[in-house]
Formats: sequence, structure tokens, C-alpha cells
Amino acid sequence: MEYDVGFVGLGYVGLSTAVCFSNRRMKVLGIEIDTNKISQIRKAKTPIHEKDMSELLKKAIDKNNLVVSSDYNELQKTRIIFLTVGTPSNKNGSIDVRYIRQATKEIAKIIKSIDEYFLIVVKSTVVPGTSNNIIKKDLEKYSNKKLGKHFGIIANPEFLQEGKAIHDTFYPDRLVIGADSKNELTMIKNLYKKFYRQLPPVIETSLVNAELIKYSNNSFLATKISFMNYIARIAEEIPGADVNDIKNALGLDKRISDSFLNAGLGFGGSCFPKDVRALIAFSESVRVESDILKSVMRINNTQFLQIISLLRNKLGTINNKKISILGLSFKPNTDDIREATSIKIIEKLLKHGARVTVYDPIAIPNIKQIFGTSIKYTKNARSCLKSSECCLLVTEWEEFKKLNNDDITKLMKNPLIIDGRRLFSKNHFKKPVEYYAIGLG
Ligand code: UDX
Repeated sequence: MEYDVGFVGLGYVGLSTAVCFSNRRMKVLGIEIDTNKISQIRKAKTPIHEKDMSELLKKAIDKNNLVVSSDYNELQKTRIIFLTVGTPSNKNGSIDVRYIRQATKEIAKIIKSIDEYFLIVVKSTVVPGTSNNIIKKDLEKYSNKKLGKHFGIIANPEFLQEGKAIHDTFYPDRLVIGADSKNELTMIKNLYKKFYRQLPPVIETSLVNAELIKYSNNSFLATKISFMNYIARIAEEIPGADVNDIKNALGLDKRISDSFLNAGLGFGGSCFPKDVRALIAFSESVRVESDILKSVMRINNTQFLQIISLLRNKLGTINNKKISILGLSFKPNTDDIREATSIKIIEKLLKHGARVTVYDPIAIPNIKQIFGTSIKYTKNARSCLKSSECCLLVTEWEEFKKLNNDDITKLMKNPLIIDGRRLFSKNHFKKPVEYYAIGLG
């Protein structure tokens, strides 16, 4: 076979996984309908900001281990096809399976045209039942062939974090493999043995369980974050309280673990908000009340107001005040601004007449597309602070840690910092700098 594996959809997940596979003994085909992306990848230019992606992509393209195309017919040259297209949100929070269905139809035509067994691996995030009810039905309908006899389906969700996608693919905590038959399981495990040599822990389960694991995983992590933001709100009301001390204590309880306990301005990005909403919509479709996740989203949707109210308390009116914002991406080490808190904060500040100046190491081009000339952009943190009356720290980029008392007092008109991500320790700044933070009473 010309390719060990094919990927349909070269977004974040598809491209990262394809690039990793093609650097570990595999010939990989990537199908993507965005022709601009195809020509970029062919030139070994990465369309996303991701650690180690540039070097690995270049190696894969140079060695011809990764071939990309917008022609679905190329899939005839492989028997294992990963489905890695996006599943965006509908208005009611449920997932939009349009891209899944388009890709499935094209894959079905390939299955129809060749009398051999295909394995379809669903990596896209889909609610329980999608693989069996939608993907299987469409594959059978458009190929005129049968699940089990002519093709198999695996649900194999991913848990990649942006900025760490390559690392997370090479060193996952575990693989989740959902299959409804042994044959499919053996095929996918053989592929992963070729990739990992020594397999990471594998959870072998059913299709529906694998689908539900993905949503449970992300929703649980999101719940930890909203819980800590709730504790942070309480701490802010108690003089002397500090959510960070509470986090440190909770984190040492092995039953809780210390990750995803950072209070801040809430979770953003392309996964958590979308997946929590999708699980709420799904659970309601099976008549299960989702109070817990509704609260998680309510806390998350209003968490940015905490920094606005801290700002108002310290500054009084914000009309015509010059406010600087450090950090725009939804988290550090990415230029991704999808569901970033910075957007909500800037909108609110502009609505109240503030003059907003922003800085981010890489996300400015993306933010410009939303705010255009209504805000000012600067080239570094120091120039962002010039003559500012308050600095809001919105994304915890490591480079901001270098800011010291002198920078603040010399540059700002009013030396006031409000730390939305607890980047600085509470004793980092001294008088006359005034330092306030989320979760600090
Ligand atoms: C997430 C999941 O971690 C990953 O497994 C899944 O595949 C995709 O979604 P990602 O969106 O890249 O990954 O970001 P992540 O690092 O998980 O952070 C998500 C959001 O939560 C960010 O906005 C981050 O700032 C926020 N966060 C994270 C907190 O507010 N506190 C924390 O303690 C951790």
C-alpha cells in the first residue's frame, strides 16, 4: 500500500497527528479541501503555531513521508483513514456534523470503488452515537457496503493541548480506542505499535464510551477551572485570603491532583467551551439535567467581569482612561484567540469609553481582524504600558514576568496592575506600584 494511513482534515488535530506519524516510520497522506493550506504545507510552511511543528513538517515533506492533496481519490492508496475534520457548535450548543458528513460521503465513494477492507478512525470530537448512527449509516448508504464486512469504525478521541500537540501525540497519558469488534481493534493497535513501538496505556472500550470519554475528560477539566474561579471570587471578598494558597493545598491531595486548578479569567480556546456546551445539549437530548455544567459555563461566561469590577473599584470611571492589556491569546504559546477572554474584556472597555492599548507576542494579527483601528497595538510590553492608567494582565506569557517595579513606575501614568492570571507573586511589586489580582483578598 502506498500510504500506511490517510487523514481527512488537516486542521490542528489532523496536521499535528499526520506530522508525528510521518516522522515515525509511516507514509502518510493528508486530504484537505482548503487549497491555500495545501500549498503552504507542500512548501513545508506550517499553517499553525505549534512547538516543533516547523522542523518536523519540513523533515516529513523533504523525505516525502507526508503527501498532501485536496483530491479525495488519493485515499484509494490507503486502507486506514483518520477522520479529523472539525465539529463546530450549532446555535444551541450541539455539534454541527456537516463536515463529518461531507467527508464521510467522500470516503464512502472510495470504499465503494475498491473491494478491500477499510478502517475508518474517528478522531473528530463527536457526541455518543455519532459513529454508529451517522457515520456508519452514511458509509453504508453511499458505499452500498456493510460495516464489519467491508469496513470497520474506530472511535479514537485525541487529548492534544495547543502548543503541546506534538509532545502530547508522542507521549500521551493513554490511548482511548473504541471499537465494536475485535478485528478493528487489532488493526488500530498494530498501527499504533508501529508508531509507538511500546504502546502507552490503552483503554479498549466501545464506540459510545470512547465518544463519551472525550466529553467527560474536557468537561471535568473545565469544571476544575470554574470551581477554582468560584473559590477565587470568595477569596476576593475576604481580606488576606489568597486562592493560590488554597490551590497549593488542594493540589497536594492526590485525589484532586495539582493540574487545572489555576484560577484566572476562565477557559477559552477551541475545545473546552464548545465541548462543555455540546455535552449540555447532548445530555438534555437524553433528558438528563446538566445543572453542573450549566454552572461551569455560567461561571466561565462571567469570570471576565471580575477583572472589570476590580478595575472599576480602583479607577472609578473608565471613560477616556488609557488601559493597557498584556496578552490576547486564549492561553500562552499560541496565537489562537478563539473564545479568548481578551475579546470580551476589550469589548467591555470600549463600550465604557476606555482608550485601549494592547500587546501580545504573536496574537496581534488575529485580534486586529476583530478590532481594527478601534484599539492601539504595540510592539512590546513596555511600550504598551506607556502613560497607561491601568494594566490588565490577561494572558500569562512568560516574557511578562520580566516587568519590574521600575518599568511600571517609569512608564505608567498611574502604576496600577491587575493580574488576571496570577502570573506575578503577590510580593513581586512594591510601593508605589499597586498590585491587585484575581483570587486575592
Ligand atoms: C484542551 C484540552 O486540554 C485538550 O485535552 C483537548 O484536546 C483540547 O482542549 P487546549 O484548548 O489547547 O486543550 O488548552 P488547555 O491548555 O487545556 O487550556 C484551556 C483553557 O483553560 C485556557 O484558556 C487556559 O487558560 C484555561 N486554564 C487552564 C485555566 O484557566 N486554568 C487552568 O488551571 C488550566
